[in-house]
Amino acid sequence: MKFTKNILCIGAGYVGGPTMAIIALKCPDYKVTVVDVNEERIGRWNSDDLPIYEPGLLNAVQAARGKNLFFSTAIPESITDADIIFVSVNTPTKTFGLGAGMASDLQHWEKTAHQIVAYSERPKIIVEKSTLPVRTAEAMERILSENIKNIHFEVISNPEFLAEGSAVKDLLEPDRVLIGSQQTESGFEAARVIAAIYAHWVPIEKIITTNLWSAELSKLVANAFLAQRISSINAISALCEKTDADISEISFAVGSDKRIGFDFINASIGFGGSCFKKDILNLVYICRSYGLNEVADYWEMVVKMNAYQQERFLRKIIKEMFNTIVGKKIVLLGFAFKANTGDTRESPGIFVAKKLLDERAALVICDPQALENARKDLAGLDDGVIYEADPYRAAAGAQAIAVITEWDVFKKLDFEKIFNVMQKPAFIFDGRNILDHRRLFEIGFNVFPLGKPSLTHF
Ligand code: NAD
Ligand code: UGA
Repeated sequence: MKFTKNILCIGAGYVGGPTMAIIALKCPDYKVTVVDVNEERIGRWNSDDLPIYEPGLLNAVQAARGKNLFFSTAIPESITDADIIFVSVNTPTKTFGLGAGMASDLQHWEKTAHQIVAYSERPKIIVEKSTLPVRTAEAMERILSENIKNIHFEVISNPEFLAEGSAVKDLLEPDRVLIGSQQTESGFEAARVIAAIYAHWVPIEKIITTNLWSAELSKLVANAFLAQRISSINAISALCEKTDADISEISFAVGSDKRIGFDFINASIGFGGSCFKKDILNLVYICRSYGLNEVADYWEMVVKMNAYQQERFLRKIIKEMFNTIVGKKIVLLGFAFKANTGDTRESPGIFVAKKLLDERAALVICDPQALENARKDLAGLDDGVIYEADPYRAAAGAQAIAVITEWDVFKKLDFEKIFNVMQKPAFIFDGRNILDHRRLFEIGFNVFPLGKPSLTHF
């Protein structure tokens, strides 16, 4: 078949892989190639053992792969052939030099810009898919326009809003698709070309076009607002524990106001994931660099509150287990940063596990999808740590269970059976408020939910 356009995506990660799989599935007239420097990752995208776990993703990949969806490490040739290049490389927080711990590390992004210049022979549209600091497109345009071949590259910002664990659904039914362009004739034309991709399946009224800088900044702001709601409810959970108010009742009462709504007001041990913290710190850094210190302080508090919530959860475990956990067997039920993913980046589980190991507890880590990543996260510290996918085996001989991830399977466990194999007194610390606390108490557990009164037999 002759394809009408060649689309390339540089970066075959949590965003590049699923996004391109759905574009390929919905646009059989386009050839979609995804490239990465990581050979192992590309090898897995070409197998049925995909490098990431996402419900529905394997079916989507299998339906398009080999027809109009291709995964490859041949970066130069793929750049030469492409009409449109999505750049979806990682943009983590900088760990060195100026802005360390706050600013985005743009080295991967800049490398791709130079590669695009080196291997292009005709005009192309370059799409920022990665989350980037506002005004990055300006730097991208400068690098791209410094080419002796006089090729015109039009830069578009098309940030991605998918959440892990629901990526396929989010891509198929997005709340909106955001396309930012220069406000010039060639900018508008490039925005129309990108909009035409999504128009294959997204209703036209959901495709929003803006100027470049609004698109870049909207992505950071959306993540900041979502994280802010979680930090807000988590702050109130601490007050609930002092006053015997119940955080679930508060979430319901407050969320019932349509202006507030129920999404993202579930108290937790804190948000994890590769983006919220990184993107807010980046926003804070940008504000400070413009001298907007009050604005920076305001958003930084969202991240500080998240750290406080994780610390609070950890301290509660230690305090309630009589201030010593040396040698005590504690099960972390879940390790992924949220349910339905194997991703553990910035998971509160990492913080809790490391601190419990510092206290010399005997850890068992139990997660249906995240054990491979958990092993990597704790490498070198995990002498004696047991990784166990079966919750019943994990609980044998344990003194405490700490719920880290809100997996559905954990809600359906037979806790009577688990209680019977645990040492007594048996403790449950529910960092997600997903279990039936009254029932657990009746079985015999000492139960410590988040933001509500504890139920203890002491
Ligand atoms: P990731 O680390 O899973 O994937 C990035 C990939 O890019 C890696 O496989 C890496 O090997 C590859 N790469 C890096 N430099 C390269 C180069 N020069 N050439 C070819 N490949 C290269 O990251 P991710 O989670 O997919 O995130 C990518 C971007 O999307 C980030 O900016 C992130 O903030 C943003 N984002 C992520 C999510 C999410 O849910 N993970 C959602 C929305 C936006
Ligand atoms: C988030 C955003 O939801 C996406 O729109 C965005 O594209 C993405 O970041 C990104 O830029 O990377 P993600 O981090 O994958 O997606 O997952 P979320 O569902 O947002 O959950 C983030 C964290 O917040 C998880 O640890 C989750 O457990 C926690 N959370 C969420 C709560 O603690 N309480 C809530 O009420 C909701």
